[in-house]
Amino acid sequence: MSSADLSQGVGAVGRARVGVRTLRGGRDRWWLQPVLTVTGLSLWVIYAVVRTALQRNYWVADYHYLSPFYSPCLTTSCAPGSSHLGTPFGNFPPLLPYAILSLPFLLVFRLTCYYYRKAYYRSYYLAPPACAVAEPHRTYHGETRFPLILQNFHRWFFYAAVILSGINSYDAAVAFHGKGGGFGFGLGNLILIANVILLWCYTLGCHSCRNIVGGRLRHFSKHPIRYWAWGKVSLLNGRHMQFAWFTLLSLAVTDAYIAFVAAGVFPDPRFIN
Ligand code: FES
Repeated sequence: MSSADLSQGVGAVGRARVGVRTLRGGRDRWWLQPVLTVTGLSLWVIYAVVRTALQRNYWVADYHYLSPFYSPCLTTSCAPGSSHLGTPFGNFPPLLPYAILSLPFLLVFRLTCYYYRKAYYRSYYLAPPACAVAEPHRTYHGETRFPLILQNFHRWFFYAAVILSGINSYDAAVAFHGKGGGFGFGLGNLILIANVILLWCYTLGCHSCRNIVGGRLRHFSKHPIRYWAWGKVSLLNGRHMQFAWFTLLSLAVTDAYIAFVAAGVFPDPRFIN
């Protein structure tokens, strides 16, 4: 279909003329998924904004737990010991969130993700709100114009996400630290590791990753390693939606747990040291 046809949206020539709001039957709760998506995503964004703006209780010095919302912490304003990769950015003004250096990459990676695009196009913009439910918009241009054409940069944000997942993995490794020094292991380590595993499952299940690993090949039989890797990535890709939500939850739970331990609300149960 040409872009001229697309611009007519549901009224385009050749589209079925449907006189009712939905073809899904009167009792079908097609609105439930958009409502849940708006609620879940909005709550997460509010939580993330509040937590990154607070700039406290993100580091547990005794056990070297660092919240993923503050990683990497690259300024001299960060809590002592929390800057695992150094402090190349000097002091930050009081109201400037430290996460300004990493969070934008994380957000654009998620914002341009194929799954999230479907989710927020349907739930926030109602384009369309569900299958077989007419959208309220009169025009439709797909992702052929600014700003949505920028969604095509997703592949490049994937590379940034790989680096950030690597940094989160490093944070989880550094966190095996005991109170008096040396090796330590507590409940916080299990939470940090679970979060990192889920982050990798989401990142490596990316559609761009699947194309990078197994795309542009004529014969899989001549590239057995890439074929093997493509098979594994495809398994993760099939659960991409689930990992998109699990990682939002695991990021928030990890951050909240570290915030409570850092604030002294409850102690971290220790198995070793
Ligand atoms: Fe979802 Fe790339 S498609 S992260």
